[in-house]
Amino acid sequence: MKRVDLFAVIHKALRLQSARVVGALANCAGDLEATGRALRESRELLEMQIVHARVEETFVVAAIEARRPGAASRLTEAHEEHAVMIERLRTQIDEVERHATPARVHALYLEMTRFIADDFLHMFEEETLAQPLLEECYSQPELAAIAARARESVTPAEERLFAPLVLASLSTAEREVPGSIGKTR
Ligand SMILES: [Fe+2]
Repeated sequence: MKRVDLFAVIHKALRLQSARVVGALANCAGDLEATGRALRESRELLEMQIVHARVEETFVVAAIEARRPGAASRLTEAHEEHAVMIERLRTQIDEVERHATPARVHALYLEMTRFIADDFLHMFEEETLAQPLLEECYSQPELAAIAARARESVTPAEERLFAPLVLASLSTAEREVPGSIGKTR
């Protein structure tokens, strides 16, 4: 049985969408169509982040806390901070949508890349600290059951948001792993 990694697949999709947002916001100022696209990509990333944080809190953080009380408090803190940042970013996106001056687009680019930088560090922490901790606390079949419950909790609409990015960010070998692209496998 392949080692169950609760973060690897979904974090690759989040990193890919983050990279798309950075690229789209970087050069869209002055071009209404490109700005519209960049705002759509940005909203999509934030939507994915909300779903992802909910799933992690409900299944991953809960699993850590069940066996190591207090050990996931840093993760929860980060998720809460991110929720505040996401709400601010959504407001900022709405403002750019109403009036897309180059200054506003640039301000959004800065705030969005700050959020993404913070999130990249957060994902690194989850992959290098939380994952080994989960492996210490749970057997591989137990981790597979947690991953399955997490996948089952995702609605079809949420699944559609992630599926193309998961597909685009996985290597051919990774795509062969059952469950790696959600309920469709
Ligand atoms: Fe995560």
